[in-house]
Amino acid sequence: MSDVLTGTTTGAVRFRGRGGVPPQFQLPEPPRHFVGRQEELARIRAGGVTVLSGPAGVGKTALALKWLQDRGSGLYVDLAVREPVEDLLTAFGLSDVAADDAAAVFRSLVTRRQFTLLLDNADSAEQVTPLLPASGTVVVTSRERLNLAQAQEIDVEPLTDDGRIQQLLDLSYVELPERQARLYRLCAWQPGPFDVQAVAAIAGEHECDVEDALDDLVEKSLLTEVGDAFRFHDLVRAHARTKR
Ligand SMILES: Nc1ncnc2c1ncn2[C@@H]1O[C@H](COP(=O)(O)OP(=O)(O)OP(=O)(O)O)[C@@H](O)[C@H]1O
Ligand SMILES: [Mg+2]
Repeated sequence: MSDVLTGTTTGAVRFRGRGGVPPQFQLPEPPRHFVGRQEELARIRAGGVTVLSGPAGVGKTALALKWLQDRGSGLYVDLAVREPVEDLLTAFGLSDVAADDAAAVFRSLVTRRQFTLLLDNADSAEQVTPLLPASGTVVVTSRERLNLAQAQEIDVEPLTDDGRIQQLLDLSYVELPERQARLYRLCAWQPGPFDVQAVAAIAGEHECDVEDALDDLVEKSLLTEVGDAFRFHDLVRAHARTKR
């Protein structure tokens, strides 16, 4: 393993292509006809760790790839697959790393090779934190808010209402457990922001159950929390009102 970590030995493991990255960890292409997102791109340019969170299909990965394309080589790690870190180390010729050391070896590899890193499809802060190098540029995508320390978090909002957005929201909606789906539909008929008590009264449910479900909708980026109240983005409310 020392060749990758220190660059001192003969380097039996060599990869052609971008930045010496094994093919399956090279950055995919962003959409051919990428549109909008200038404000988000400017914010990502600030560097450090950026988390892009938002509902399924809203365009998190596309945005990350658009930005990373300009930086040349980078490392793409899909956290949704089984054992992504172990796979990556194996692909770099580091197959003898003990499971407990995998995250540290990964960080060391990323730091030494100065890889710009895309951690795609994260589902928790616990999954991501051990993989973050002490310095360097990392973009994380997640359907959940991760609230990572020392990271900027960008809520990726739907682009415009062109019909496609509604289709994309459907992807999130069909994955909701029944209670969340029912509250999603009910709350959409509230004229303005609403609180847990109001929703519990309309739904005929206990406040604590309602609170958990609303928090879940916030985590899935279907609702926004403002102080003690919740509100919908207009496009999301319009989507929720189409559901029965
Ligand atoms: N700014 C954009 N310009 C053009 N196409 C886009 C843009 N954003 C997203 N798309 C397209 O919309 C689709 C969904 O985008 P993407 O895969 O980035 O969603 P996502 O938020 O990463 O979803 P998931 O949570 O399922 O990973 C893709 O086909 C992507 O190419
Ligand atoms: Mg994605």
